Amino acid sequence: MKTTAVILAAGQGTRMKSKLPKVLHQVLGKPMVQWVLDCLDHAGVQHKIAVLGHGGEQVGQVIGQQAEIVYQKEQLGTGHAVMQAAPALPAENDCVLVICGDTPLLRPQTIAQLIARHEAEGNAVTLLTAHAENPTGYGRIVRQGEQIAAIVEQKDADAEQARIKEINTGTYCFAQKFLLQYLQTLNTNNAQKEYYLTDLIKIANEHGLAVGGFVLDDFNESLGVNNRVQLSQAEAILRRRKCEEVMLAGVTLIDPAATYIGADVQIGNDSIVYPNVVLEGKTVIGSNNIIGMNCRFVDSVIGDDNDIQSTVIVESKVGNGCKIGPMAYLRPGTVLADHVKIGDFVEVKKSQVGQGSKIPHLSYVGDSVVGSGVNIGCGTITCNYDGVNKYQTTIKDGAFIGSNTNLVAPVTVEENAFIGAGSTITRDVPESALAVVRAELRVKENWRKKK
Ligand code: UD1
Ligand code: CA
Repeated sequence: MKTTAVILAAGQGTRMKSKLPKVLHQVLGKPMVQWVLDCLDHAGVQHKIAVLGHGGEQVGQVIGQQAEIVYQKEQLGTGHAVMQAAPALPAENDCVLVICGDTPLLRPQTIAQLIARHEAEGNAVTLLTAHAENPTGYGRIVRQGEQIAAIVEQKDADAEQARIKEINTGTYCFAQKFLLQYLQTLNTNNAQKEYYLTDLIKIANEHGLAVGGFVLDDFNESLGVNNRVQLSQAEAILRRRKCEEVMLAGVTLIDPAATYIGADVQIGNDSIVYPNVVLEGKTVIGSNNIIGMNCRFVDSVIGDDNDIQSTVIVESKVGNGCKIGPMAYLRPGTVLADHVKIGDFVEVKKSQVGQGSKIPHLSYVGDSVVGSGVNIGCGTITCNYDGVNKYQTTIKDGAFIGSNTNLVAPVTVEENAFIGAGSTITRDVPESALAVVRAELRVKENWRKKK
């Protein structure tokens, strides 16, 4: 069955009290509308139309080519929003899946099941409903026996209807023929003076057309985010879902409640993640790593068998078998080969560090190419910036940089060169040479006594 999704995302989201359009607020590091787009993709719904209004330009930029975009200039209700999408529906389409841009928790399986039910029953409309402990704010599902008779909005409900706990999730499949035939018959005779899409249920019944319902097992899945309390609830649910997914894939999370793993992060099996770890963006972590407490990785690629403690890694690559931290900071453009050691209070920026090299403590290495088997002593600094430009430092294989060395870039330390502690190196050091820059030590005997 050919299906087109219509994503309703024109509303202002007043209750968010935000300059940012509601559907761009992020859950687990991903805008809500992106969750909906990804869900539809995974459910196999390729063709999508997004109805935008408030902040439409901004939302449109995030959506890009992922959906066809139509605008609803005035927000006159969900029925009116779908009217704006109607001309964009392909003539040969069968099913119109209407979904809201503020429901990031819906699972692809649910959408696929809803479409399958709609097709199997040949309904004019099939609703996704759920049982809410507290149904306040939602449209109520009014049933006559088993049959769904109508949806009554909160503001239009009488006391008896208000007690109904089965709610409209705002997700439906419409037979396109039915939708296009009756959409224009909607009116605004209701408490909110809006065109209610939900009135189509009553209309279908009046014409003796089949109305079906698909009841969600888990109300949480249908949570619509209207304010920041619900935003935090959605975040908590999706965070737990992601943590469970990685645990079931073989990752140990010592304390999942204290672990933040972004929606698109991947972690290999037998890695162990300690509490207070934040993994963000497109981070990919291999197998058998120890990610100690207080680590934060953003858009980084980490290999296998690493031990990383209390470290921030941003847009960088770590090989295999490295030991990093505590308190290291790998800034964008850092690439570590295998078996590298980066110790405490070491900052590395836009640098490559070769296999087996060590920067064990208190160093800054920026704009550098460090070979393999290099030892960089405590307190070494690459002086890469003269206030205007940045310059490169090259340290070749096997070099030994004594503690507290300043390498004034541009400068090259050739293979196996040796630099004495405390040196400020301002020109290239040849292969296997010793370079030492040090004022002569003066010792004046009994100097204090004579003072
Ligand atoms: C709607 C449903 C209600 C359901 C609830 C689920 C109607 C009349 N009511 O109510 O039965 O329980 O969703 O969350 O449909 N939108 C537009 N243009 C508009 C109005 C809304 O694009 O003119 C979009 C909003 O941006 C939002 C979605 O439609 O993404 C739902 O709108 P909202 O105002 O939140 O509807 P509810 O009152 O929650
Ligand atoms: Ca809503």
